[in-house]
Amino acid sequence: MERKKLYIKTWGCQMNEHKSEGIAGLLAQHGYELVDRPEEADLIIFNTCMVREKPEEKIFSEAGMVRRLKERKPHLLLGVGGCVAQALGKKIFERSPAVDFVFGSSNISDIPRLLEELEARRQDGRRRDEPVMAISKIPDRIEDLPFVRQSRFQAKVTITEGCSNFCTFCIVPYTTGLLRSRLPGDVIREVSELAAQGYKEVQLLGQNVDSYGRDLDDPDITFANLLRALTRIEIPRIRFTSSHPKDITPDVIEVLAEDNNICEHVHMAVQSGSDKVLRDMRRGYTKEQFLELVHELKKRVPDVNITTDIIVGFPTETERDFEETVDLVKRARFGGAYIFKYSPRPKTVSYYKWPDAVPPEEKQRRLEHLLQLQKRITAEENRKYVGRTVEVLVEGEAKPGSGRYLGKTRNKITTIFPGRPEWVGEFVKVRVEEASVAGLFGAVVEAPTPTPAPTPTPA
Ligand code: SAM
Ligand code: SF4
Ligand code: F3S
Repeated sequence: MERKKLYIKTWGCQMNEHKSEGIAGLLAQHGYELVDRPEEADLIIFNTCMVREKPEEKIFSEAGMVRRLKERKPHLLLGVGGCVAQALGKKIFERSPAVDFVFGSSNISDIPRLLEELEARRQDGRRRDEPVMAISKIPDRIEDLPFVRQSRFQAKVTITEGCSNFCTFCIVPYTTGLLRSRLPGDVIREVSELAAQGYKEVQLLGQNVDSYGRDLDDPDITFANLLRALTRIEIPRIRFTSSHPKDITPDVIEVLAEDNNICEHVHMAVQSGSDKVLRDMRRGYTKEQFLELVHELKKRVPDVNITTDIIVGFPTETERDFEETVDLVKRARFGGAYIFKYSPRPKTVSYYKWPDAVPPEEKQRRLEHLLQLQKRITAEENRKYVGRTVEVLVEGEAKPGSGRYLGKTRNKITTIFPGRPEWVGEFVKVRVEEASVAGLFGAVVEAPTPTPAPTPTPA
Protein backbone atom coordinates (compact mmCIF):
# COMPACT_ATOMS: atom_id res chain seq x y z
CA MET A 1 0.00 0.00 0.00
CA GLU A 2 1.32 3.44 -0.85
CA ARG A 3 2.35 5.38 2.20
CA LYS A 4 0.75 8.73 2.87
CA LYS A 5 2.98 11.78 2.92
CA LEU A 6 3.63 13.80 6.07
CA TYR A 7 5.25 17.23 6.31
CA ILE A 8 6.13 18.60 9.77
CA LYS A 9 7.10 22.20 10.43
CA THR A 10 8.62 22.85 13.83
CA TRP A 11 9.13 26.13 15.66
CA GLY A 12 10.88 26.79 18.96
CA CYS A 13 13.34 24.89 21.08
CA GLN A 14 15.31 21.66 20.61
CA MET A 15 12.79 19.91 22.82
CA ASN A 16 10.11 20.76 20.30
CA GLU A 17 12.37 19.50 17.48
CA HIS A 18 12.62 16.23 19.37
CA LYS A 19 8.86 16.07 19.87
CA SER A 20 8.51 16.32 16.10
CA GLU A 21 10.72 13.22 15.83
CA GLY A 22 8.16 11.55 18.10
CA ILE A 23 5.26 12.71 15.90
CA ALA A 24 7.07 11.35 12.81
CA GLY A 25 7.70 8.03 14.59
CA LEU A 26 4.12 7.64 15.74
CA LEU A 27 2.67 8.48 12.34
CA ALA A 28 5.16 6.13 10.62
CA GLN A 29 3.37 3.36 12.52
CA HIS A 30 0.14 4.58 10.94
CA GLY A 31 1.35 4.53 7.33
CA TYR A 32 2.93 7.97 6.91
CA GLU A 33 6.36 8.84 5.56
CA LEU A 34 8.09 12.20 5.90
CA VAL A 35 8.52 14.53 2.91
CA ASP A 36 10.58 17.72 2.64
CA ARG A 37 8.03 19.96 0.95
CA PRO A 38 4.50 20.89 2.07
CA GLU A 39 3.31 20.68 -1.55
CA GLU A 40 3.87 16.89 -1.53
CA ALA A 41 2.00 16.26 1.72
CA ASP A 42 -1.34 14.63 2.54
CA LEU A 43 -0.95 15.74 6.14
CA ILE A 44 0.81 18.85 7.44
CA ILE A 45 1.61 19.22 11.13
CA PHE A 46 2.65 22.50 12.72
CA ASN A 47 4.52 21.90 15.97
CA THR A 48 4.38 25.38 17.43
CA CYS A 49 6.18 27.70 19.86
CA MET A 50 4.79 30.59 21.88
CA VAL A 51 7.88 31.92 23.60
CA ARG A 52 7.75 35.20 21.65
CA GLU A 53 4.96 36.92 19.74
CA LYS A 54 6.62 36.89 16.30
CA PRO A 55 6.86 33.09 15.89
CA GLU A 56 3.30 32.79 17.18
CA GLU A 57 2.08 35.17 14.46
CA LYS A 58 4.11 33.35 11.81
CA ILE A 59 2.19 30.15 12.49
CA PHE A 60 -1.07 31.79 11.46
CA SER A 61 0.40 33.34 8.31
CA GLU A 62 1.77 29.92 7.34
CA ALA A 63 -1.63 28.37 7.98
CA GLY A 64 -2.90 30.83 5.36
CA MET A 65 -0.46 29.31 2.88
CA VAL A 66 -1.75 25.83 3.66
CA ARG A 67 -5.23 27.12 2.92
CA ARG A 68 -4.11 27.98 -0.62
CA LEU A 69 -2.54 24.50 -1.00
CA LYS A 70 -5.87 23.00 0.04
CA GLU A 71 -7.60 24.70 -2.90
CA ARG A 72 -5.55 22.46 -5.20
CA LYS A 73 -5.58 19.41 -2.92
CA PRO A 74 -8.87 19.21 -1.00
CA HIS A 75 -7.95 16.07 0.97
CA LEU A 76 -4.90 17.79 2.54
CA LEU A 77 -5.15 18.01 6.36
CA LEU A 78 -3.53 20.51 8.74
CA GLY A 79 -2.97 19.69 12.42
CA VAL A 80 -1.62 22.21 14.92
CA GLY A 81 0.12 21.07 18.08
CA GLY A 82 2.76 22.20 20.57
CA CYS A 83 2.83 25.20 22.87
CA VAL A 84 0.48 27.54 20.97
CA ALA A 85 -2.08 24.74 20.76
CA GLN A 86 -1.74 24.00 24.47
CA ALA A 87 -2.27 27.68 25.34
CA LEU A 88 -4.93 28.69 22.82
CA GLY A 89 -6.87 25.43 22.34
CA LYS A 90 -10.15 25.95 20.49
CA LYS A 91 -9.26 29.57 19.61
CA ILE A 92 -6.85 28.21 16.99
CA PHE A 93 -9.85 27.23 14.80
CA GLU A 94 -11.20 30.78 15.07
CA ARG A 95 -7.86 32.28 14.06
CA SER A 96 -7.36 30.00 11.08
CA PRO A 97 -10.09 28.16 9.14
CA ALA A 98 -7.39 26.04 7.46
CA VAL A 99 -6.80 24.06 10.66
CA ASP A 100 -8.46 20.61 10.79
CA PHE A 101 -7.34 19.42 14.23
CA VAL A 102 -5.48 20.63 17.30
CA PHE A 103 -3.46 18.67 19.86
CA GLY A 104 -1.75 19.76 23.08
CA SER A 105 1.89 19.56 24.23
CA SER A 106 1.37 16.08 25.71
CA ASN A 107 -1.29 14.76 23.32
CA ILE A 108 0.85 13.44 20.50
CA SER A 109 -0.41 9.89 21.08
CA ASP A 110 -3.92 11.19 20.36
CA ILE A 111 -3.12 12.21 16.75
CA PRO A 112 -4.10 8.85 15.13
CA ARG A 113 -7.47 8.97 16.91
CA LEU A 114 -8.04 12.56 15.72
CA LEU A 115 -7.20 11.52 12.15
CA GLU A 116 -9.71 8.64 12.37
CA GLU A 117 -12.36 11.03 13.62
CA LEU A 118 -11.73 13.38 10.68
CA GLU A 119 -11.92 10.44 8.23
CA ALA A 120 -15.21 9.26 9.79
CA ARG A 121 -16.66 12.74 9.46
CA ARG A 122 -15.52 12.96 5.85
CA GLN A 123 -17.16 9.64 5.03
CA ASP A 124 -20.52 10.35 6.61
CA GLY A 125 -20.45 13.98 5.45
CA ARG A 126 -20.88 15.44 8.94
CA ARG A 127 -20.04 19.10 9.31
CA ARG A 128 -17.37 20.33 11.69
CA ASP A 129 -19.49 21.49 14.61
CA GLU A 130 -17.44 19.99 17.41
CA PRO A 131 -13.77 20.81 16.95
CA VAL A 132 -11.45 17.82 16.46
CA MET A 133 -9.11 18.41 19.33
CA ALA A 134 -7.19 16.74 22.17
CA ILE A 135 -5.81 18.99 24.86
CA SER A 136 -5.40 17.51 28.30
CA LYS A 137 -3.94 18.91 31.46
CA ILE A 138 -0.19 18.27 31.34
CA PRO A 139 0.24 14.77 32.85
CA ASP A 140 2.83 13.80 35.49
CA ARG A 141 4.53 11.40 33.12
CA ILE A 142 6.53 12.28 30.02
CA GLU A 143 4.82 10.91 26.91
CA ASP A 144 6.53 7.78 25.57
CA LEU A 145 6.98 8.05 21.81
CA PRO A 146 8.57 5.87 19.09
CA PHE A 147 11.07 8.50 17.87
CA VAL A 148 12.26 8.49 14.26
CA ARG A 149 15.46 10.47 14.55
CA GLN A 150 16.44 12.91 11.80
CA SER A 151 20.12 12.02 12.06
CA ARG A 152 21.76 8.59 12.08
CA PHE A 153 24.67 9.82 14.24
CA GLN A 154 23.36 12.62 16.49
CA ALA A 155 20.44 11.95 18.82
CA LYS A 156 18.38 14.04 21.19
CA VAL A 157 17.30 12.53 24.50
CA THR A 158 14.83 14.25 26.83
CA ILE A 159 15.78 14.17 30.51
CA THR A 160 13.18 16.62 31.82
CA GLU A 161 10.04 18.26 30.53
CA GLY A 162 8.38 21.39 31.85
CA CYS A 163 9.89 24.00 34.13
CA SER A 164 9.07 25.13 37.66
CA ASN A 165 11.12 28.34 37.63
CA PHE A 166 8.51 30.83 36.46
CA CYS A 167 10.91 33.54 35.29
CA THR A 168 8.55 36.51 35.06
CA PHE A 169 8.86 36.95 31.26
CA CYS A 170 8.51 33.29 30.26
CA ILE A 171 5.50 31.33 29.06
CA VAL A 172 7.20 27.90 29.05
CA PRO A 173 5.94 26.73 32.49
CA TYR A 174 2.37 27.56 31.38
CA THR A 175 2.59 25.67 28.07
CA THR A 176 4.68 22.69 29.17
CA GLY A 177 3.79 22.33 32.86
CA LEU A 178 5.92 21.87 35.96
CA LEU A 179 9.27 20.08 36.02
CA ARG A 180 9.07 16.34 35.34
CA SER A 181 12.22 14.21 35.28
CA ARG A 182 12.68 10.86 33.60
CA LEU A 183 14.10 8.14 35.80
CA PRO A 184 17.89 7.77 35.46
CA GLY A 185 17.52 4.09 34.47
CA ASP A 186 15.31 5.08 31.50
CA VAL A 187 17.77 7.75 30.31
CA ILE A 188 20.77 5.41 30.73
CA ARG A 189 18.95 2.64 28.83
CA GLU A 190 18.08 4.96 25.95
CA VAL A 191 21.63 6.34 25.67
CA SER A 192 23.08 2.79 25.81
CA GLU A 193 20.75 1.69 23.00
CA LEU A 194 21.77 4.69 20.90
CA ALA A 195 25.44 3.89 21.50
CA ALA A 196 24.81 0.27 20.40
CA GLN A 197 23.11 1.56 17.24
CA GLY A 198 26.28 3.51 16.38
CA TYR A 199 25.21 7.02 17.37
CA LYS A 200 28.24 9.24 17.99
CA GLU A 201 26.64 12.07 19.90
CA VAL A 202 23.73 12.41 22.31
CA GLN A 203 22.26 15.70 23.40
CA LEU A 204 20.42 15.66 26.72
CA LEU A 205 17.47 18.04 26.74
CA GLY A 206 15.70 19.98 29.46
CA GLN A 207 14.67 23.61 30.00
CA ASN A 208 16.95 23.60 33.04
CA VAL A 209 19.01 20.41 33.06
CA ASP A 210 20.52 21.29 36.44
CA SER A 211 17.12 20.91 38.06
CA TYR A 212 17.02 17.25 36.95
CA GLY A 213 15.64 15.00 39.70
CA ARG A 214 14.36 17.77 41.98
CA ASP A 215 10.79 16.57 41.48
CA LEU A 216 11.71 13.00 42.44
CA ASP A 217 11.95 11.72 45.96
CA ASP A 218 15.57 10.60 45.95
CA PRO A 219 18.48 12.91 46.84
CA ASP A 220 20.86 10.73 44.78
CA ILE A 221 19.02 11.57 41.56
CA THR A 222 20.89 14.67 40.44
CA PHE A 223 22.15 15.97 37.12
CA ALA A 224 25.78 15.46 38.16
CA ASN A 225 25.09 11.81 39.09
CA LEU A 226 23.26 11.25 35.80
CA LEU A 227 26.22 12.70 33.85
CA ARG A 228 28.62 10.54 35.81
CA ALA A 229 26.61 7.41 34.96
CA LEU A 230 26.58 8.39 31.29
CA THR A 231 30.39 8.75 31.21
CA ARG A 232 30.48 4.94 31.54
CA ILE A 233 28.64 4.40 28.26
CA GLU A 234 30.78 3.97 25.17
CA ILE A 235 29.57 6.90 23.13
CA PRO A 236 32.07 9.56 22.05
CA ARG A 237 30.09 12.69 22.85
CA ILE A 238 27.40 13.69 25.32
CA ARG A 239 26.06 17.27 25.32
CA PHE A 240 23.31 18.94 27.28
CA THR A 241 21.17 22.07 27.13
CA SER A 242 20.17 24.38 28.87
CA SER A 243 22.07 25.00 32.08
CA HIS A 244 20.71 27.47 34.61
CA PRO A 245 23.14 29.80 36.41
CA LYS A 246 21.26 29.50 39.70
CA ASP A 247 21.17 25.70 39.66
CA ILE A 248 24.46 24.51 38.16
CA THR A 249 26.35 22.78 41.00
CA PRO A 250 30.09 22.32 41.72
CA ASP A 251 29.79 18.58 41.06
CA VAL A 252 28.49 19.29 37.52
CA ILE A 253 31.57 21.47 36.94
CA GLU A 254 33.65 18.63 38.39
CA VAL A 255 32.30 16.11 35.85
CA LEU A 256 32.87 18.62 33.02
CA ALA A 257 36.45 19.17 34.15
CA GLU A 258 37.33 15.45 34.03
CA ASP A 259 38.60 13.68 30.92
CA ASN A 260 35.44 11.89 29.73
CA ASN A 261 32.76 11.93 27.00
CA ILE A 262 30.89 14.98 28.37
CA CYS A 263 31.52 17.86 25.94
CA GLU A 264 32.87 21.21 27.12
CA HIS A 265 29.96 23.38 26.03
CA VAL A 266 27.65 25.12 28.48
CA HIS A 267 24.63 27.02 27.19
CA MET A 268 23.67 29.15 30.16
CA ALA A 269 21.22 32.02 29.66
CA VAL A 270 22.15 35.17 31.60
CA GLN A 271 19.22 37.28 30.25
CA SER A 272 20.57 40.58 31.71
CA GLY A 273 23.58 42.12 33.42
CA SER A 274 21.58 44.37 35.73
CA ASP A 275 20.88 43.12 39.25
CA LYS A 276 17.61 45.05 39.32
CA VAL A 277 16.38 43.52 36.04
CA LEU A 278 17.58 40.05 37.08
CA ARG A 279 15.51 40.46 40.25
CA ASP A 280 12.47 41.64 38.29
CA MET A 281 12.92 38.64 35.98
CA ARG A 282 13.15 36.37 39.06
CA ARG A 283 16.32 34.70 37.82
CA GLY A 284 17.86 33.94 41.22
CA TYR A 285 21.43 35.27 40.74
CA THR A 286 23.29 38.57 40.50
CA LYS A 287 25.63 39.83 37.80
CA GLU A 288 28.71 39.19 39.95
CA GLN A 289 27.55 35.68 40.90
CA PHE A 290 27.12 34.91 37.22
CA LEU A 291 30.56 36.28 36.34
CA GLU A 292 32.08 34.28 39.20
CA LEU A 293 30.48 31.13 37.75
CA VAL A 294 31.86 31.93 34.28
CA HIS A 295 35.29 32.45 35.83
CA GLU A 296 35.08 29.14 37.71
CA LEU A 297 34.00 27.23 34.59
CA LYS A 298 36.79 28.73 32.49
CA LYS A 299 39.36 28.01 35.19
CA ARG A 300 38.30 24.41 35.78
CA VAL A 301 37.23 23.22 32.33
CA PRO A 302 39.88 23.63 29.60
CA ASP A 303 38.44 25.01 26.34
CA VAL A 304 34.96 25.38 27.79
CA ASN A 305 32.69 27.26 25.38
CA ILE A 306 30.02 29.23 27.23
CA THR A 307 27.09 30.51 25.19
CA THR A 308 24.08 32.45 26.41
CA ASP A 309 20.66 34.04 25.82
CA ILE A 310 20.01 37.73 26.51
CA ILE A 311 16.77 39.69 26.50
CA VAL A 312 16.92 43.43 25.70
CA GLY A 313 14.11 45.86 26.47
CA PHE A 314 12.64 44.11 29.51
CA PRO A 315 9.98 46.58 30.81
CA THR A 316 12.09 47.83 33.74
CA GLU A 317 15.37 47.99 31.78
CA THR A 318 16.76 51.56 31.70
CA GLU A 319 19.74 52.73 29.67
CA ARG A 320 21.90 52.27 32.75
CA ASP A 321 20.67 48.66 33.18
CA PHE A 322 21.45 48.00 29.54
CA GLU A 323 24.98 49.34 30.08
CA GLU A 324 25.36 46.73 32.83
CA THR A 325 24.51 44.02 30.28
CA VAL A 326 27.06 45.48 27.85
CA ASP A 327 29.66 45.37 30.62
CA LEU A 328 28.75 41.76 31.48
CA VAL A 329 29.07 40.68 27.84
CA LYS A 330 32.51 42.31 27.63
CA ARG A 331 33.66 40.56 30.80
CA ALA A 332 32.08 37.11 30.28
CA ARG A 333 33.44 36.78 26.71
CA PHE A 334 30.81 34.27 25.56
CA GLY A 335 31.53 32.05 22.58
CA GLY A 336 28.14 33.10 21.20
CA ALA A 337 24.84 34.63 22.27
CA TYR A 338 21.21 34.60 21.17
CA ILE A 339 19.83 38.08 21.75
CA PHE A 340 16.07 38.64 21.85
CA LYS A 341 13.85 41.68 22.13
CA TYR A 342 11.47 41.39 25.07
CA SER A 343 8.07 40.19 23.92
CA PRO A 344 5.16 40.42 26.39
CA ARG A 345 3.52 37.01 26.79
CA PRO A 346 0.02 36.54 28.18
CA LYS A 347 -0.21 34.67 31.50
CA THR A 348 3.30 35.71 32.60
CA VAL A 349 3.96 37.93 35.63
CA SER A 350 5.79 40.64 33.65
CA TYR A 351 2.85 40.89 31.22
CA TYR A 352 0.50 41.84 34.03
CA LYS A 353 2.93 43.77 36.20
CA TRP A 354 4.57 46.20 33.77
CA PRO A 355 3.56 47.85 30.49
CA ASP A 356 5.88 47.01 27.58
CA ALA A 357 7.64 50.33 28.21
CA VAL A 358 10.78 50.22 26.06
CA PRO A 359 9.89 51.52 22.56
CA PRO A 360 10.51 49.15 19.61
CA GLU A 361 13.25 51.38 18.09
CA GLU A 362 15.08 51.41 21.39
CA LYS A 363 14.83 47.61 21.71
CA GLN A 364 16.23 47.35 18.18
CA ARG A 365 19.12 49.72 18.98
CA ARG A 366 20.05 47.73 22.11
CA LEU A 367 19.81 44.46 20.19
CA GLU A 368 22.10 45.68 17.41
CA HIS A 369 24.60 47.15 19.83
CA LEU A 370 24.94 43.82 21.66
CA LEU A 371 25.00 41.84 18.42
CA GLN A 372 27.93 43.86 17.08
CA LEU A 373 29.81 43.55 20.36
CA GLN A 374 29.19 39.79 20.60
CA LYS A 375 30.21 39.23 16.97
CA ARG A 376 33.57 40.89 17.65
CA ILE A 377 34.08 38.77 20.81
CA THR A 378 33.05 35.51 19.05
CA ALA A 379 35.53 36.21 16.23
CA GLU A 380 38.31 36.99 18.73
CA GLU A 381 37.59 33.85 20.76
CA ASN A 382 37.52 31.70 17.61
CA ARG A 383 40.87 33.13 16.44
CA LYS A 384 42.49 31.56 19.51
CA TYR A 385 42.15 28.20 17.73
CA VAL A 386 44.25 29.17 14.70
CA GLY A 387 47.24 26.80 14.50
CA ARG A 388 45.57 24.14 16.66
CA THR A 389 44.15 20.78 15.59
CA VAL A 390 40.53 20.08 16.59
CA GLU A 391 38.31 16.99 16.47
CA VAL A 392 35.18 17.53 14.38
CA LEU A 393 32.07 15.38 13.94
CA VAL A 394 31.18 15.90 10.27
CA GLU A 395 27.52 16.89 9.79
CA GLY A 396 27.24 17.49 6.04
CA GLU A 397 28.12 19.69 3.11
CA ALA A 398 28.30 23.40 3.93
CA LYS A 399 26.61 24.33 0.64
CA PRO A 400 25.36 21.69 -1.84
CA GLY A 401 28.02 20.96 -4.45
CA SER A 402 30.70 23.11 -2.78
CA GLY A 403 32.89 20.20 -1.63
CA ARG A 404 33.23 22.05 1.68
CA TYR A 405 31.91 20.22 4.71
CA LEU A 406 31.00 21.36 8.18
CA GLY A 407 30.80 19.91 11.61
CA LYS A 408 31.28 20.81 15.26
CA THR A 409 34.15 20.56 17.68
CA ARG A 410 33.55 18.95 21.06
CA ASN A 411 32.86 22.41 22.47
CA LYS A 412 30.37 23.13 19.66
CA ILE A 413 32.26 25.50 17.40
CA THR A 414 31.32 25.19 13.72
CA THR A 415 34.30 24.12 11.61
CA ILE A 416 34.47 24.19 7.78
CA PHE A 417 36.94 22.28 5.60
CA PRO A 418 37.23 20.54 2.20
CA GLY A 419 35.74 17.08 2.74
CA ARG A 420 34.16 13.95 1.29
CA PRO A 421 30.58 12.65 1.43
CA GLU A 422 31.63 9.41 3.15
CA TRP A 423 32.97 11.39 6.10
CA VAL A 424 29.49 12.53 7.13
CA GLY A 425 28.77 11.06 10.57
CA GLU A 426 32.46 10.39 11.24
CA PHE A 427 35.19 12.20 13.18
CA VAL A 428 38.01 14.05 11.41
CA LYS A 429 40.91 16.08 12.76
CA VAL A 430 41.13 19.56 11.29
CA ARG A 431 44.09 21.90 11.50
CA VAL A 432 42.66 25.40 11.94
CA GLU A 433 44.11 27.93 9.50
CA GLU A 434 41.64 30.79 9.83
CA ALA A 435 38.77 31.82 12.07
CA SER A 436 35.92 34.33 12.01
CA VAL A 437 32.58 34.94 13.68
CA ALA A 438 31.23 32.09 11.51
CA GLY A 439 33.62 29.55 12.99
CA LEU A 440 36.92 27.80 12.24
CA PHE A 441 38.32 27.06 8.77
CA GLY A 442 41.07 24.59 7.95
CA ALA A 443 42.17 21.33 6.36
CA VAL A 444 41.71 17.74 7.44
CA VAL A 445 44.94 16.27 8.80
CA GLU A 446 43.41 12.96 9.89
CA ALA A 447 40.57 11.38 7.91
CA PRO A 448 38.23 8.86 9.53
CA THR A 449 39.08 5.20 9.41
CA PRO A 450 36.06 3.61 7.71
CA THR A 451 33.65 2.13 10.25
CA PRO A 452 33.55 -1.66 9.73
CA ALA A 453 30.18 -2.93 8.54
CA PRO A 454 28.25 -4.65 11.38
CA THR A 455 28.77 -8.42 11.42
CA PRO A 456 25.55 -10.14 10.32
CA THR A 457 23.94 -12.09 13.14
CA PRO A 458 23.40 -15.76 12.27
CA ALA A 459 19.77 -16.61 11.52
N1 SAM B 1 15.16 27.45 29.97
C1 SAM B 1 16.12 28.22 29.32
C2 SAM B 1 16.86 29.06 30.34
O1 SAM B 1 16.26 29.66 31.19
O2 SAM B 1 18.06 29.13 30.21
C3 SAM B 1 15.53 29.12 28.28
C4 SAM B 1 14.40 28.63 27.52
S1 SAM B 1 13.56 29.79 26.50
C5 SAM B 1 12.75 28.66 25.54
C6 SAM B 1 14.82 30.40 25.41
C7 SAM B 1 15.06 31.87 25.53
O3 SAM B 1 13.98 32.61 25.03
C8 SAM B 1 15.25 32.40 26.93
O4 SAM B 1 16.50 32.13 27.46
C9 SAM B 1 15.00 33.86 26.77
O5 SAM B 1 16.18 34.55 26.45
C10 SAM B 1 14.05 33.90 25.56
N2 SAM B 1 12.71 34.34 25.98
C11 SAM B 1 11.86 33.69 26.78
N3 SAM B 1 10.74 34.43 26.98
C12 SAM B 1 10.91 35.58 26.27
C13 SAM B 1 10.12 36.75 26.10
N4 SAM B 1 8.94 36.89 26.70
N5 SAM B 1 10.60 37.72 25.29
C14 SAM B 1 11.81 37.59 24.68
N6 SAM B 1 12.59 36.52 24.83
C15 SAM B 1 12.16 35.51 25.63
FE1 SF4 C 1 11.50 29.92 31.04
FE2 SF4 C 1 12.97 30.52 33.15
FE3 SF4 C 1 12.07 28.04 32.83
FE4 SF4 C 1 13.98 28.97 31.23
S1 SF4 C 1 14.17 28.65 33.43
S2 SF4 C 1 12.13 27.84 30.63
S3 SF4 C 1 13.42 31.10 31.01
S4 SF4 C 1 10.83 29.85 33.20
FE1 F3S D 1 8.66 27.42 22.53
FE2 F3S D 1 7.32 25.67 23.89
FE3 F3S D 1 9.90 25.31 23.43
S1 F3S D 1 7.05 27.86 23.99
S2 F3S D 1 10.67 27.38 23.32
S3 F3S D 1 8.30 25.32 21.93
S4 F3S D 1 8.79 24.75 25.25
